[in-house]
Amino acid sequence: MSFTPIEQAPARLNRSELAVPGSNYRFLEKATEAPADVIFLDLEDAVAPDDKEQARKNIISALNDLDWGNKTISVRINGLDTHYMYRDVVDIIEQAGERLDLMMIPKVGTAADIYAVDMLVTQCEQAVGRKKRIGFEMIIETALGMANVDEIAGASTRNESLHFGVADYAASTRAMTTNIGGPNPNYGVLTDDEGSGNREFHWGDMWHYAIARMVVAARAHGLRPVDGPFGDIEDTEGYKAQALRAAVLGCEGKWAIHPSQLKLANELFAPSEKDVERANKILAAMEQAQKEGRGAVTLDGRLIDIASIKQAENLVNKAKQISD
Ligand code: GLV
Ligand code: MG
Repeated sequence: MSFTPIEQAPARLNRSELAVPGSNYRFLEKATEAPADVIFLDLEDAVAPDDKEQARKNIISALNDLDWGNKTISVRINGLDTHYMYRDVVDIIEQAGERLDLMMIPKVGTAADIYAVDMLVTQCEQAVGRKKRIGFEMIIETALGMANVDEIAGASTRNESLHFGVADYAASTRAMTTNIGGPNPNYGVLTDDEGSGNREFHWGDMWHYAIARMVVAARAHGLRPVDGPFGDIEDTEGYKAQALRAAVLGCEGKWAIHPSQLKLANELFAPSEKDVERANKILAAMEQAQKEGRGAVTLDGRLIDIASIKQAENLVNKAKQISD
């Protein structure tokens, strides 16, 4: 281990994160029943400029009046380049009571963006005597944000999670695609079987680098990496494939832009019974190995060692967090 300890963000389940536009109060009411680990109430891109003020009022009422159970609740504020953002922060902290857990900051570009929001949030919290400190979720969805992802991740002790905003990221990097998440048929490799002329085209994952980069930055700062939206609501197979790729790379969860995607996210980001069984077998085998003074052993024909203990513990701890 490094001599530099990694402080972990508060442990919260974040398998699924439901996006709900603040402009429609009925949607906010319905969201209270959604089986989501986290819900973000949106003031940003799902809300048209003319509806921003009403959306803010709706969200303030929803936070004061609706029963959100034990879900983690977040509000996505507007970007720092808009004049809506300061009032989002001020009005919500001054008028919406203590229920809010997190604020989601979109299109973060630099650590200074986080510093600025932190300063404003801190002043508002102090002014109203808020007891619960608001945590930050940050969307990495611009070329600038990705270029500065490490500093952004470490910019505030309020930081809890990084999210991959695939739609804005594609726009910012001028990727030749109009999909929201998922693969693109033009991104692939043409294989050539040793020059035989026997060629096949294999699709690749155009988001691999971005998600992997974000995961590393998040984990290096003790934050939760979360995969963003998948636009094709009808395509459950596509959602599943994207979610599993993100899970395998280390993401803790994925957004749902429609309630129908929640069940999938909750299932796909939970270790399966088989995974937990194997993890427990690894832990038992390593306990025995350590009693015998051995650092590595084979289990079912595969090498396991001290790193396997940590991998297995991650799975077992996640399963416990879900069942608690
Ligand atoms: C989310 O905000 C995205 O742009 O994908
Ligand atoms: Mg976006």
